Amino acid sequence: MTTREALPGPGDRLAEQAAAALRERVGLGAAFSPRVAIVTGSGLASVLARVEPAAEVAYADLPGFPEPTVPGHDGRVVAGSFAGVEVVAFVGRFHLYEGHPPAVPALLPRVAHALGADVLVLTAAVGAVSEGLAPGSVVVLRDHLNFLGVDPLAGWRSPEGGPAFVELAGVYDPELGASALEHATSRAVAVSYGVYAAVHGPSYETPAEGMFLRGAGADVVGMSVVPESVPAHALGMRVLGLACVTNAAGTAVDHADVVRVSEATGHTIAEILADVLPQLGG
Ligand code: HPA
Repeated sequence: MTTREALPGPGDRLAEQAAAALRERVGLGAAFSPRVAIVTGSGLASVLARVEPAAEVAYADLPGFPEPTVPGHDGRVVAGSFAGVEVVAFVGRFHLYEGHPPAVPALLPRVAHALGADVLVLTAAVGAVSEGLAPGSVVVLRDHLNFLGVDPLAGWRSPEGGPAFVELAGVYDPELGASALEHATSRAVAVSYGVYAAVHGPSYETPAEGMFLRGAGADVVGMSVVPESVPAHALGMRVLGLACVTNAAGTAVDHADVVRVSEATGHTIAEILADVLPQLGG
């Protein structure tokens, strides 16, 4: 890992520098102005099967971006068109369980925002906490529980210089969620609204923790999303969270199985997005 001083943080210019480097590499300069940013989780690069890529840039070529260390997260930015909508996609994300402070995963929404995107689509593999969520089903996030042990905005400052006391009542955009649910239902995809519990990882939950999360009101559990959704919301972006159920939380899980199920479900999520994105309006 880089030294602490060199890490991205809300007070630095890394997001702006990375956005400028991306614009240069994509070759369109300021004309590269994607409306939508997408982050693909473990095994979910298949979400992008329908993107017509205009350019690809390795994370290694972007200032402030560490190399992802997780199998299934390959570390590149794809710029292109998804169902006629200009998008920037981050293939591979950063997790706290890799040892990163929250400023590192926050870099993705910050770069997206610096590029002008106002919608952030977060996809993620999750364990099912509620009963009746079979592997391969999709959960549209309507809220979250943060059990990461840290707030993603710790150290952030409001423009006035005070702590970032950001409200989170609408962190997952209700209209985008409703649109995703409606389109998924019409395509006969197993889909429901749910609450995402974010845990630090990398260990999976014990059976007792799975029961605890259910009692706390969670439907699914994962090790990402929240370090990206909260900064995105703080920046004024609309967030759509689409989770792919890969396993039952609190039972034996293997990361390779998680990646296998999400690879298949990524195509379903792509179909949902192909319906939702062209209807964004505005
Ligand atoms: N727990 C936490 N994160 C996960 C799981 C799980 O069961 N499955 C996929 N990501």
